[in-house]
This record gives sequence, structure tokens and C-alpha cells, in this order.
Amino acid sequence: MSEATGAAKIAPGDNSTLAFDVERARADFPILGQEVHGRPLVYLDSAASAQKPRQVIDAMSHAYETCYANVNRGVHRMSQLTTDAFEGGREKVAQFLNAGSADEIVFTRNATEAFNLIASSFGRAHLGAGDEVVISELEHHANIVPWQLVREQLGIVLRVAPIDDAGNFLLEEFEALLGPRTKLVALTHVSNALGTVVPVKQVIDLAHGRNIPVLLDGCQATPHFAVDVRALDVDFYIFTGHKVYGPTGIGALYGKKDLLNALPPYQGGGDMIASVSFEKTTFKDAPHRFEAGTPPIVEVIGLSAAIDYIAALGQENIAAHESGLRTYAEERLARVPGVRLVGTAREKASIVSFVMDNAHPHDIGTIVDRAGVAVRTGHHCAQPLMQRLDLAATARASFGLYNTRGEVETLAEALESVSEIFG
Ligand code: ALA
Repeated sequence: MSEATGAAKIAPGDNSTLAFDVERARADFPILGQEVHGRPLVYLDSAASAQKPRQVIDAMSHAYETCYANVNRGVHRMSQLTTDAFEGGREKVAQFLNAGSADEIVFTRNATEAFNLIASSFGRAHLGAGDEVVISELEHHANIVPWQLVREQLGIVLRVAPIDDAGNFLLEEFEALLGPRTKLVALTHVSNALGTVVPVKQVIDLAHGRNIPVLLDGCQATPHFAVDVRALDVDFYIFTGHKVYGPTGIGALYGKKDLLNALPPYQGGGDMIASVSFEKTTFKDAPHRFEAGTPPIVEVIGLSAAIDYIAALGQENIAAHESGLRTYAEERLARVPGVRLVGTAREKASIVSFVMDNAHPHDIGTIVDRAGVAVRTGHHCAQPLMQRLDLAATARASFGLYNTRGEVETLAEALESVSEIFG
């Protein structure tokens, strides 16, 4: 693992690394056999949502067909079996992040709900008027807006750590923002819009040196490299199922056990209580304290299968494959007339954002779609970052384990036709 970024060391690779056969992996993803506008689907939008391997689809169908009931409630056999599968998923997520205990994993509906959980519960427990939370210019709206809601309620102050024009996170400027009123640092691990990998280990060390806890957004990190929350010593870590080849409807929050247990519940309801009377309710410890109501049962089983799938391929193999693809894509796209890459930070994950002379990103997206190529266009739920870069939008190609150099070539050729149309 890279000391600064928390990422596995990755080297540029060819289409397939020695240990990773991309064509074999592609065969696991039924949707990749689809055609779009009569052309083979070239799916370069995994940062928005990754496609699902047969193993995940089958695990979820199998659960509905053979092992389904509500969990943590029934004495009957089917409920017990389903509870075992669900809680086994919690163990799996703990292993995925190298957490010390499954009790440190809270399941949520998605990553956004996990941010709102922390903002609400941490806010009520630890924040008051004038207290400061440090975020950065790289953040997704999910790590901005919940804090603005807390700001309206409690009068906290949001400090924003800057980046340079290439998208590098500026450590010294970040450190200068830490002060006696800083109560939390909440940063992305990898920028969803630019791919910048933030030097999170150094961030954590700087914050912990002042007894400030750190929350990281791992949504764009976990699909691409191994994350070790104990090696990082991070306090809270959030990721989402659908970007790691699992289903939608499931997110996960890691929190150190004592920190989680010091937080009040986020939502109230069934299964999060120790006892209820009309006078007083007491609550379970984490993680169940934060899981009111029937949880996303089959989604956890699907996420568990996705983690098994990634583990079987090897996270280092995936990281090496994607790193090679991204490097190749950056070189190839830079040669397309009119293309300008946006986000050229020193450390990057599988994302290539770009703009083109004279062509709006939505025009780019629409034209390359006719060639079967799916890219995301727009502000990427990072409007403040776009404002920082003086852009309305970018086009973004993002790579998953199933992408190939041939697909990068298809994108580049489609962009050459955009260039010809728009001059
Ligand atoms: N956060 C997702 C993206 O970056 C949706 O596209």
C-alpha cells in the first residue's frame, strides 16, 4: 500500500496483466454482450455505477429463491438462515476494509445516507456553533450538502481545503486550516470527477496530531484498490455497493467501535432498540443502533458476493490492470485534436475527465453514445469543483475491471469524429 494515499502500489500494465485475464472477467458480466445503436456496448461509466457479474446476480436470485425471510427477528429456521447470510455479509465487509470487528460496519441505503448519518449523529453529539468541519474542493455533493444542513441547524463553520489547477490536494494549505475549533476532517479518498487520489495517510496523521477524527469517502477508492482502515487508522470510512460490482440500495459505514457507540441514533424504529416504553427508549450498541427498520437484506448478500468476486480476481491485479488502462487512455485521448484533460494529479485512480474545443460535454456524450460508448457528462455532483476549475461540465470516462484498450481506442475514434464535427 502506498504510504500516503492508502492505495496499493500500481504499475502501468498491458491489456491483461500476467495474473489477470480481462476477457475471462468480461465473460462474467452478461450486460457487456449487449449492443447499443447496433454497436457493442463500451461501458466507460463505472464511476457512476459498475456493471454486475453473474456471480452477484445469481447470489441475489438464489437468496430470493432459497433463503429469504426477515432478519434478526424470527426464531424460525428461514429467518435464522437469512440472518446468518446477512450478518455474514457484515463480516465480509469488515474483512474487505480490514476492520477489527464486524460491529464496526453499519449498513445504510447508500453512501449518501451514511454521510447524512454521520453529519446528523456526529453533529448532535460533538458540534456546536462555531465548531469547524474541514472538507475539500474535491468533494462530491454527498460530502458537502449534509454539512450545510448541519451548518443551518447548529451554526458550524465549513472550511474548504484547496487543490491546485491539476487537481492535486494541497497538504500544507490543508494543515493551515486545522485549528482549535476543528472537530472533524471529512474528505474524499478519490475524487469522482478528476480521479485524484488524496494523500489520506498524511491527512490522517496531521489531523490525529491535533486529536481531530477523520471521515473518508471511499466510494471511488474501494472499486479500484485495497483499503485498510486499520493501517490508515481512519475513524470513519464510507463506501457504496453498486460501485464495487454489487447491487444498488446498499452502502456501508465503517466507524471505530468506541466512536460509533458514542453517537446517538440517526433514525428511530424497529430493531435498533434495547427496550421501548412510552416514557423511555434505550438503544442497542452499534451497528444495530444505526439500522432502524428492515435492512437491505438481499442487497447485503449481493454485496457479499461482489466482495468475493473482487477477492477472487485479486485487488492488486484489478488495480494494475486499471492503472495501465488509465495511463493508456490519458496518452491516447491527449492526441485527439481539441481534447484537454481535466485533472492531471500526480496520484490518480481510474477516471479520465476531459473537455473539447467547441463541443459541450453533453454533445460529446451524445455523439460517442452513437458509437456504443457510455461516458458521463455534466458536473458529476461536484459543482463547487467545477466552479473551482472554471468549467460548467466535463466528459468523464471511468474504467472498471472489465474494460480493455480496444474500448479506449473506440472512445478515441468516436472523439475524433466529435472533433471533425465541431472543428
Ligand atoms: N457519484 C457518482 C458519479 O460520480 C454518481 O458519477
